[in-house]
Amino acid sequence: MKLTRSRRAILVIGFAAVFPWAGHAESLAIRNCTWCHGVSAHGYSPAPGLAGQRREYIQNQLKNFSEHTRDNPFSRLYMWGATANLSPATAHGLAFYFSTLSPQAANDGNRELEAEGRSIYQLGMPDSNTAACVVCHGPNAEGVGEIPRLGGLAYTYLKRRLEQWGEGYHAAARPPMPRIASKLSANQIEALASYLSFVK
Ligand code: HEC
Ligand code: HEC
Repeated sequence: MKLTRSRRAILVIGFAAVFPWAGHAESLAIRNCTWCHGVSAHGYSPAPGLAGQRREYIQNQLKNFSEHTRDNPFSRLYMWGATANLSPATAHGLAFYFSTLSPQAANDGNRELEAEGRSIYQLGMPDSNTAACVVCHGPNAEGVGEIPRLGGLAYTYLKRRLEQWGEGYHAAARPPMPRIASKLSANQIEALASYLSFVK
């Protein structure tokens, strides 16, 4: 993936507006991330979108990567290295910066499963006594506090994340996601990932 000169300039200007004190090293830090996450941080498979993600959540994940507690294959391969030398101050600045960018829906799910996904998201699964996703992730899947935005993330990423809790990864993940994900069937995961990929 190549960054054009003008895009680089926009990134640097955008960053300078957020961190007027920031020097060369800080804008380089952003570029290190957008190389994989996309120039506008809207995601570039397999890296998820970061634009509009919750600041607290991004910071928590950066800590989990650097402490190796987020341990699924792509995290090991890509994010353990990317966070190895990140100072807490830089991690904080990056989390803040990405949280201020506008998110964009990936729109890569299956439209035929959208209605089923919306129903599980909004109403939950009364049969398995599982709370509806909306209770924590918000009416428009925008997240709140440390609870992440899900709206607009890529189908492939959401599906992988929901499957991996059941496969035993993210041992240190906070409750309640390992338990909730374990109640979802393969079809329900596909429906939820489809629906969420279309949410703006
Ligand atoms: C070499 C590619 C690469 C680079 C460089 C990179 N990332 Fe990532 N990042 C990924 C991939 C791939 C994932 C998905 C991991 C997974 O599947 O769980 C990811 C996941 C993340 C997540 C978790 C998002 C979520 O929704 O849970 C955050 C936060 C993140 N990266 C931030 C950053 C930041 C900040 C930087 C720059 C310091 C950065 N990344 C650099 C590839 C990269
Ligand atoms: C009781 C609150 C709660 C409920 C209900 C809940 N979640 Fe979560 N969810 C969380 C928290 C907290 C996290 C962050 C976990 C972490 O920090 O690692 C999370 C993380 C996630 C992630 C990871 C996002 C990313 O960017 O990697 C996905 C995907 C997800 N939840 C999907 C769902 C779905 C689908 C449902 C409904 C079936 C649901 N959640 C219900 C609290 C909840």
